[in-house]
Amino acid sequence: MSVLPPAHDKPRYVRDMFTRIAPRYDLLNRLMTGGQDVRWRREVIRLARLEPGQRLLDIGAGTGDLAREALRQQPAARVVAADFTLPMMQVGRRRAGAASIAWVAADALRLPFADASFDAVVSGFLLRNVADVRQALQEQHRVLRPGGRIVILETTRPPRGLVGALVRLHFRWVIPALGRLFAGDAQAYRYLPASSVHFLTAAQLAAHLAAVGFRRVGYRKRMLGTVAIHWAEK
Ligand SMILES: C[S@@+](CC[C@H](N)C(=O)[O-])C[C@H]1O[C@@H](n2cnc3c(N)ncnc32)[C@H](O)[C@@H]1O
Repeated sequence: MSVLPPAHDKPRYVRDMFTRIAPRYDLLNRLMTGGQDVRWRREVIRLARLEPGQRLLDIGAGTGDLAREALRQQPAARVVAADFTLPMMQVGRRRAGAASIAWVAADALRLPFADASFDAVVSGFLLRNVADVRQALQEQHRVLRPGGRIVILETTRPPRGLVGALVRLHFRWVIPALGRLFAGDAQAYRYLPASSVHFLTAAQLAAHLAAVGFRRVGYRKRMLGTVAIHWAEK
């Protein structure tokens, strides 16, 4: 049986899973990426090119790592972190610097923000968890001002060949084992790699960005082609 939930049940499944793993999520992230995620987050925020006073939305913020990195790089930015799993944000709100971030309960498919209310929107490992990628991108496009930037950090379908085979072995055995050991939840850490294997390729995600109206779409891959950073402009 597939470890992926059917589309209609995905929001509930995803929210329950992140509720369970919230206390250990950040630790597991560092372990699974060998600490590389910290560098990718820096890169995402650099690509958002925030200026003093500009408004940034971190959607699917979880514990707010991207939101915090934004304030580290641009302390005068106005940063909103939004997510539909409250326990993830509760963990983030206990971290240093959390008081400088506005934390908002929000569904990425129906954002509670006015049109053109942000200068930049970023997300980290959100899109493969939503029930409708196109709708999530449309919402991010709607809340951006003209000329505003979107930057997306997400896993991407592993490449073919030897590297791909090794990555799949890592996904099938190593990540669930880490999840069992450090989060007591092998099921969640079977879902996370499975959802990567079945997610869009980087080129497909770029095509979705263009289709919802973004311009100057670009991307680069990281970590043996298993992670991609996309950027574009409204
Ligand atoms: C893998 S975590 C990533 C957290 C954080 N952005 C990071 O980079 O570590 C995915 C987050 O997306 C959130 N999420 C998934 N679907 C969502 C939706 N439809 N609306 C809002 N948040 C969602 C989950 O609750 C979870 O906190």
